[in-house]
Amino acid sequence: MSSARVVVGIAGGIAAFKTAAVVSRLVQSGCEVDVVLTRGALQFIGPATFAALCGRAPVIDLFDARFPLGPHIELADRADLMLVAPATARVLASCALGLADDLLATLYLNCHCPVVMAPAMSSPMWEKAAVRRNVEQLRADGVRIIGPASGWLSCRKTGEGRMVEPDEILATINSILQVNA
Ligand SMILES: Cc1cc2nc3c(=O)[nH]c(=O)nc-3n(C[C@H](O)[C@H](O)[C@H](O)COP(=O)(O)O)c2cc1C
Repeated sequence: MSSARVVVGIAGGIAAFKTAAVVSRLVQSGCEVDVVLTRGALQFIGPATFAALCGRAPVIDLFDARFPLGPHIELADRADLMLVAPATARVLASCALGLADDLLATLYLNCHCPVVMAPAMSSPMWEKAAVRRNVEQLRADGVRIIGPASGWLSCRKTGEGRMVEPDEILATINSILQVNA
């Protein structure tokens, strides 16, 4: 995995805390990691965590002085892989429909690298026909969807919708990067 450039999109679900472990382990394995936080993600986890883990501040706004061409262009151009974890129902919908309605969805449209998404949501959301349609569309578009798993959910229920664990996300990333090396 070493020296690969991975862009990690984090959306607004409680599982965002697990993605900090994924980012840390990617950095430890030698990857260059850029983190993009959605507005929703900021409700669950702070930018300082990822600034420290990555050694650079996460990107939150489409208009950011560090990226004269726009982070959606510059991050996409240098990414070997894009991970979205957790992928909320909102992010899945925006990406499936090609809506460039925030930085993460606009970045997705610019990425030519492999894209991995790890959905996380309540069981009723995951079972909803609209969500299933969006996931099937993303699969048809070439996105690698991993999970969700069954287990304890933050809504105090057990069921399908839990984000897969960091080990599974890292194994998926590793296998894709090895094939594309
Ligand atoms: C406590 C709490 C937990 C939430 N967890 C999830 C979740 O796991 N998955 C999801 O799709 N939405 C979840 N939501 C709803 C999203 O945060 C909401 O749809 C938000 O608009 C998503 O924004 P984003 O996709 O831009 O991050 C949760 C909301 C709250 C208040």
